[in-house]
Amino acid sequence: MDINEAIQRLDWSKEPVGLYAPIGYTLEAGGKRLRPTLCLTAALLCGGTEQETLPAAMALEIFHNFTLLHDDVMDNAQVRRGRPCVHRKWNANTAILSGDQMMIEAYKMLAQLPDRQLPSVLRMFNRMATEICEGQQYDVDFEEKDNTTIEDYMNMIRLKTSVLLATALQIGAYLAGANDEVQHALYEYGILIGLAFQIQDDYLDCYGDEKTFGKAIGGDIREGKKTWLWLTAQSVLSHSNLPRSEQGGSPLSCRRRTDGEPTAKASVDNPLCSRDYDIVIAEYNRLGVPQKALQEIEKLTLQALTYLDKVPQNEYTDRLRQLANRLVTRKS
Ligand code: IPE
Ligand code: IPE
Ligand code: MG
Ligand code: MG
Ligand code: MG
Repeated sequence: MDINEAIQRLDWSKEPVGLYAPIGYTLEAGGKRLRPTLCLTAALLCGGTEQETLPAAMALEIFHNFTLLHDDVMDNAQVRRGRPCVHRKWNANTAILSGDQMMIEAYKMLAQLPDRQLPSVLRMFNRMATEICEGQQYDVDFEEKDNTTIEDYMNMIRLKTSVLLATALQIGAYLAGANDEVQHALYEYGILIGLAFQIQDDYLDCYGDEKTFGKAIGGDIREGKKTWLWLTAQSVLSHSNLPRSEQGGSPLSCRRRTDGEPTAKASVDNPLCSRDYDIVIAEYNRLGVPQKALQEIEKLTLQALTYLDKVPQNEYTDRLRQLANRLVTRKS
């Protein structure tokens, strides 16, 4: 049974409807199923079976979907997978509580693992879950912070995005009985494709097509997110002799009034401080930021692939190579 089938088989037509219907709505909407695919492929690569890996793969996908419900509240997002976000279709309380229940459902899936494997899997899973919360907090903190660096950003996305991909691979390998070295190499491959994946997500948030991406374009700009594109634009400006755009002005920081709106002065001085999509995109384009983002995604993906040389070589290793290469040009 493949992961989609296993997820579609779950029955959410339970009472109270207000708690369970949003879970069904979220899980039936598809998505790329990247985390369970990584978990299952890692397991098969290491000689495991689909059947013994499925509970963990399902747990990872349900957990991922839970984070999306809360993330969409935190990011004030409107659309996900081409449909209204749960907090828009219902309300924020629903996104919070159905999200909480999804986290519990993820742990119920894990509880199906054999006793001899459960403690180790729980340790990996719990470390990952805490790191995601840490990453999400940094992500929000950076909205208000002027001096965020690219290093801060890379650490933040390692936490909020990469560790889930990496842990999916590690758990798959562990369940199949792989040794620590193989687990570690797959984990590092996951970290690096995760970094590339999140920069690509930032890129698509600006340059994607809502129809394929499934999310409203420009959300990161509207929310003042310190994305790879934003930080790179700021860094290019501060390190080069390029003139500032016609709007002139000097400060790179975006001091904001206490009501959270960019000050009129800041948005005039530095287009990057604007929350206007067209203004910020014009500045990114002027500074060559989209090309730089694509180069960075490619660089990280090539680094990721080097870790696959350290694991057993079979058709599933090739699948992980193909998957990394496909993600570079993804549109959804
Ligand atoms: C969205 O993840 C959250 C990020 C880490 C960018 P995906 O892009 O994998 O979302 P789905 O599951 O395919 O919808
Ligand atoms: C999401 O980052 C990371 C987690 C959900 C933990 P984003 O906020 O960029 O993800 P999207 O763009 O909403 O999917
Ligand atoms: Mg978001
Ligand atoms: Mg977010
Ligand atoms: Mg995003």
